[in-house]
Amino acid sequence: MILQTHSLSKSFGGLQAVSDVSLTVKAKSIHSVLGPNGAGKTTLFNLITGAIRPASGTVQFDGKEITGWSPNRLAEIGVVRTFQRTSIFRGLSTLENVALAIRSHRRLNYKVRVSREISESVREEALRCLHNVGLGNREAVMADNLAHGYQRALDIAIGLALKPKLILMDEPLAGMSRGDRQGIADLILKLRDEFGLTIVIVEHDVGMVMKLSDIITVMQNGRVIAEGPPASIREDSNVKKAYLHGSFAS
Ligand SMILES: Nc1ncnc2c1ncn2[C@@H]1O[C@H](COP(=O)(O)OP(=O)(O)O)[C@@H](O)[C@H]1O
Ligand SMILES: [Mg+2]
Repeated sequence: MILQTHSLSKSFGGLQAVSDVSLTVKAKSIHSVLGPNGAGKTTLFNLITGAIRPASGTVQFDGKEITGWSPNRLAEIGVVRTFQRTSIFRGLSTLENVALAIRSHRRLNYKVRVSREISESVREEALRCLHNVGLGNREAVMADNLAHGYQRALDIAIGLALKPKLILMDEPLAGMSRGDRQGIADLILKLRDEFGLTIVIVEHDVGMVMKLSDIITVMQNGRVIAEGPPASIREDSNVKKAYLHGSFAS
């Protein structure tokens, strides 16, 4: 078990956004948290990644309690969330974006002072990260000139620059064309299969989650209503009820 939450709860005013959620994520798996809008997925994600503190409950990574840790501290032990598109530096090239992340990571771990210029070793590593997400030939492209699907891939390259063991992604497939979704899905599979990473995905795109995931946890109204491999989730009567309009057909 690489990641565990124990009875996490968080309410906003009178609304119980996350209620008694216990999650167990196996190393080197793709574990998705699925649920309709308002189910509490993003709140759970924010509780795990330290953006908000739980009212009660704990989060453990590799047997160590990490509840409420800051993103920097989490990155040091290998827990990284993909950046939202908005945190890409639009006026910088893809290479410069990844180089920034590498430098911040090195400073964090090795207290190396680096100049503003990209050193050869940072450049090499940045190119490797870009290559790994399929952006190997786009090092000089300005981030804001990248197509949407490639911007999402750049988010992931920035995450890889931090040398994670576990990557958490909030709706990595949201707002993308079918082809782009497939590209990101293939990339997520590659992160597991070639790099041995653990990936936690919070998503409401049912079809892709069914294809990608080893284990799916389904939430509704802040609670876990089902958990298991895709085949069993597909047949689960609580899940079918939670998803009206037959979206499990896809
Ligand atoms: N900062 C907040 N303040 C008040 N209510 C919130 C806040 N964040 C989320 N909520 C509420 O908590 C519930 C769960 O939201 P969220 O975790 O964003 O769900 P999901 O990501 O599954 O769509 C929703 O009813 C939402 O309106
Ligand atoms: Mg959400």
